Amino acid sequence: MLGYARHMRPDRDAILKALEQVIDPELKRPVTELDMVRDVLVGEDGRVSVTIALTVVGCPLRSAFEEQVTRFVGAVEGVTAVRLGFDVMSPEEKAALVSRLRGGREEKAISLSPTTRVVVVASGKGGVGKSTLTANLAFALSELGERVGVLDGDVYGHSIPHMLGIHQKPIAVDQMIVPPVRGDLKLMSIGFFLDDNAPIMWRGPMLHKALEQFLSDVHWGELDTLVVDMPPGTGDVPMSLGQLLPRAEALVVTTPQPAAQQVAVRAAQMAVKTGMRVIGAVENMSYLVGTGQEIFGAGGGQRLAQEIGVPLLGKIPLDPVLRESADEGLSVFESAPDSESARALAALAEVVAASRAGTIRKPLAVLG
Ligand SMILES: Nc1ncnc2c1ncn2[C@@H]1O[C@H](COP(=O)(O)OP(=O)(O)OP(=O)(O)O)[C@@H](O)[C@H]1O
Ligand SMILES: [Mg+2]
Repeated sequence: MLGYARHMRPDRDAILKALEQVIDPELKRPVTELDMVRDVLVGEDGRVSVTIALTVVGCPLRSAFEEQVTRFVGAVEGVTAVRLGFDVMSPEEKAALVSRLRGGREEKAISLSPTTRVVVVASGKGGVGKSTLTANLAFALSELGERVGVLDGDVYGHSIPHMLGIHQKPIAVDQMIVPPVRGDLKLMSIGFFLDDNAPIMWRGPMLHKALEQFLSDVHWGELDTLVVDMPPGTGDVPMSLGQLLPRAEALVVTTPQPAAQQVAVRAAQMAVKTGMRVIGAVENMSYLVGTGQEIFGAGGGQRLAQEIGVPLLGKIPLDPVLRESADEGLSVFESAPDSESARALAALAEVVAASRAGTIRKPLAVLG
């Protein structure tokens, strides 16, 4: 009798099965389905070596693959060690990948699935908190279990990448742009394609082209909701988005101040003119947390809602942690989940999510 149990060689099919659980962090599909698995070598002693072909050299998300492959393949019976190597796809492989991801969709057609809801965050006046609301609303919706993308449509300001702490660049695979992710959130911003803070002066047609590309060449995948941050005002961007996304819904943001509220009415009218459906108003900076002091006056959100005939969906307080979180690249749900602003934003997200089928008919009681 032998003094030791002979090692059981792991089953290759079981390893391939385990690899089906490894999800590409950006494309959100199993690596097996994406044809990214190159070699699987299984040794007598239970050592397994896997090679995965990436879309680009030096993909920043290698560690996500490493963690998953080690976890899933490591759990297969008989495996004693897992080694992961990387390779890069050939141009032919990339083209095949792109056509698979496109699923027969024509080039230049909008890549959003017909079931994706588009929620545009607009305002008349600048600096009222559109980007802050966009980033946090997107985060909150994804916490509610939705698959969420964020399109930073503010071609002049593009502050969303900074607010969400997403600094890696999108990856181009063939003619397709793969948006960088942060957890489950996908993000596309003009900011990714510009050097530093170089200002840009774009005329309507170029802008339209850029937005069109963001909606056609970007692989958004299956999204439940795409939240779009807008530049302030009623310029070219809403026009283009209205043309490109005729089903878009709009949230109009104002502060309590009459000046902001009046221009917000014009932004709402613009949204309607471009074919969007305004689903509600949001008042930001309503009162100072803690004291309740109404620094910017009162009533702007309610008046805006009345004037445009939509419900007031939320009142978000002025809260220092909201600004601090944005500056640190975090959502307020990560940095201060128990804060008043986090609660108000979570409530807003729930109302927005619930309005999905167009079910909101009357103003809801809001926190405040
Ligand atoms: N409720 C709030 N409490 C505290 N700070 C806030 C709040 N909302 C927004 N801010 C801060 O106010 C500033 C302007 O907000 P933000 O950039 O979101 O506005 P915007 O409407 O997107 O501006 P722009 O029109 O320039 O794109 C930011 O520094 C942000 O962190
Ligand atoms: Mg902004």
